[in-house]
Amino acid sequence: MTDHILRDLKDHVLTIRINRPDRKNALTAAMYASMAEAIEEAEADMSVRAVVIIGSEGCFTAGNDLNDFLQNPPKDESAPTFRFIRALVSATVPIIAAVDGPAVGIGTTLLFHCDLVYVTRDAKLLMPFVNLGLVPENAASYLLPRMLGHTKASELILLGAPISGEQAVELGMANQICEKDALEAAAQAAATLLAEKPPAAVRNSKRLLRSYLGNMEDVVRAEIEAFSAALESAEAKEAMTAFFEKRKPDFSKIS
Ligand code: COA
Repeated sequence: MTDHILRDLKDHVLTIRINRPDRKNALTAAMYASMAEAIEEAEADMSVRAVVIIGSEGCFTAGNDLNDFLQNPPKDESAPTFRFIRALVSATVPIIAAVDGPAVGIGTTLLFHCDLVYVTRDAKLLMPFVNLGLVPENAASYLLPRMLGHTKASELILLGAPISGEQAVELGMANQICEKDALEAAAQAAATLLAEKPPAAVRNSKRLLRSYLGNMEDVVRAEIEAFSAALESAEAKEAMTAFFEKRKPDFSKIS
């Protein structure tokens, strides 16, 4: 258990709140385990009609805790990070995200598996995998070219270009811009609407809406393999060490 993930089940809606504001809601192994468990339990319980994932004011999540990546890198499919990804990718319970501030790495890629996404103007979606010596995860390498086309996907992944809340809506990565103080209410209102609907119809429709994506298990497995290997690389170690040393990384000596 961790206090950094708060779970609240009310009126058939499970709210998962990422609550580690002093570290910009960076996700540790314990936090992934807690979120994976929450989604797995919601999936198994038809009385849960919707899940809302929200961060704290001004920050959705800074993505994976980089200290965890350096000290305790996920090594295989049993790691909590990958358990969370599998729970998310296979979920049929509808998932709604509410994003204010940075949504980095998995903070952005998890949105591709959500059914409804609400953002503020200050939302900043970012996938700095390459900058960190890593590769995309969470089926992003498969989904992004299909969602946005090859060149836009390359811009976001290879250059690590940021996406504002407004751009996220334009690109179809989010549904609606909300004022900061109306963000959570918008996500909860959508969850309430879903909670009033016939549950099997909602879950089956979600499953069918995602069937064009095919089976993403092989993609997720290939990404996990490449990601775990990249975490051991000199590139990744330099990039992450540089982040904590508050300096620009130097890849010039890497051959
Ligand atoms: N892992 C571990 N610690 C993190 C973190 C992360 N992913 N993101 C932020 N922190 C820590 C910082 O080291 C800092 O700690 P300090 O107060 O001891 O110096 C604290 O959280 C506040 O972060 P800071 O960078 O000062 O906040 P900011 O508002 O200027 O920037 C971000 C916010 C999210 C843009 C920036 O922190 C960032 O880029 N984080 C790394 C994101 C990342 O690369 N994630 C991995 C993706 S795979």
